[in-house]
Amino acid sequence: MIDRPVLNARVKGLTCFACGAAHDPRALQTVCTRCGMPLRVDYDVRPFQVGAEPTLWRYAAVLPIERERAVTLAEGYTPLLEVEKRLFVKDESRNPTGSFKARGMSLAVTMAKALGAKALAAPSAGNAAGALAAYGAAAGLPVTVAMPQDTPRAFVEECLHYGASVHLVEGTIADAGKWLKANGPRDAFDVSTLKEPYRIEGKKTMAYELYENFEKELPDAILYPTGGGTGLVGMWKAFDEMQAMGLIGAERPRLVSVQAEGCAPIVKAFKEGAEKSEPWPDAHTAAYGLRVPSPIGGFICLRALRETKGTALAIPEKEIAPAAQELSRKTGIDVCPEGGTAWAAAKKLYASGWLKSSETVVVFNTGTGLKYR
Ligand SMILES: Cc1ncc(COP(=O)(O)O)c(C=O)c1O
Repeated sequence: MIDRPVLNARVKGLTCFACGAAHDPRALQTVCTRCGMPLRVDYDVRPFQVGAEPTLWRYAAVLPIERERAVTLAEGYTPLLEVEKRLFVKDESRNPTGSFKARGMSLAVTMAKALGAKALAAPSAGNAAGALAAYGAAAGLPVTVAMPQDTPRAFVEECLHYGASVHLVEGTIADAGKWLKANGPRDAFDVSTLKEPYRIEGKKTMAYELYENFEKELPDAILYPTGGGTGLVGMWKAFDEMQAMGLIGAERPRLVSVQAEGCAPIVKAFKEGAEKSEPWPDAHTAAYGLRVPSPIGGFICLRALRETKGTALAIPEKEIAPAAQELSRKTGIDVCPEGGTAWAAAKKLYASGWLKSSETVVVFNTGTGLKYR
């Protein structure tokens, strides 16, 4: 337990996304003790002053802990580049360790450290492992990561470089998670996607940044490459907070979940009208961050897509690398395969008329392509 004053005074508590059970924010929490589903940080939301620093900690007023406690490498506050009229790319490759995972890990590691964790662990498709290794180093906490055997070598080298203990496991991130549970260090706190409440808090700052980038407005649609769905869920949560603060009305950007055809559990569930996603058999895609066969937060992503009148689509594997290359050549941004899927999806949605040239659209490039080569 920590003293209440260390937490942002606006934190009301932790609530289960599924069953609504309350949990104590003064202690390290994983998932809901009643139903095993992800927890959400609830705030007493009031209008706030945006800070001056060019990092996500400029939004400390809507983050769970005081700024002085932050384990930070100056993450967030990434550029929004207009690549065609009204079509923008939010370039998350500019984050420390080259991906948007830095946002979530800054918050998760800050909170784990403040709440007394002595070691950290997570399974990862690559980018989360690199970010955790770096933020663990910054926090002075030992890190263990497990990744699929076929994860590109640069991710492995990166983690080793930061001093993390790295384990390569046959299969997908789901198998890496099982391996860690069975064989990982007993004292390590698990910061897996949506299995602790704070990575969402880091990711939600992407929505606050968009609001600032667009001068107190939001785009009409946001295309987001979805694996575990933390970014999608985080932005959706931030929009609710903004409405509660009176910054926006009931309207929302339409959220679009983009996956790869080789692993598209959220797209399938969305199309079938299901409330939760089912495990995807034989998951494969070179957009490794999207190879998440059973996202624990699938039901929250589906809620976010439906409530915002969004959609979901899967991109054929052979279109992903050319799309990433096309966007890179068009813009000079180093687009990762996941960002390539979002770009491919934008083109399809313009062609079908779901997106209109009169609308403001944001495509997320979630990381650098450098580590995949
Ligand atoms: C580059 C990249 N994009 C997207 C994703 C999916 O992220 P999320 O779990 O927030 O859906 C990942 C996850 O590993 C990733 O590394």
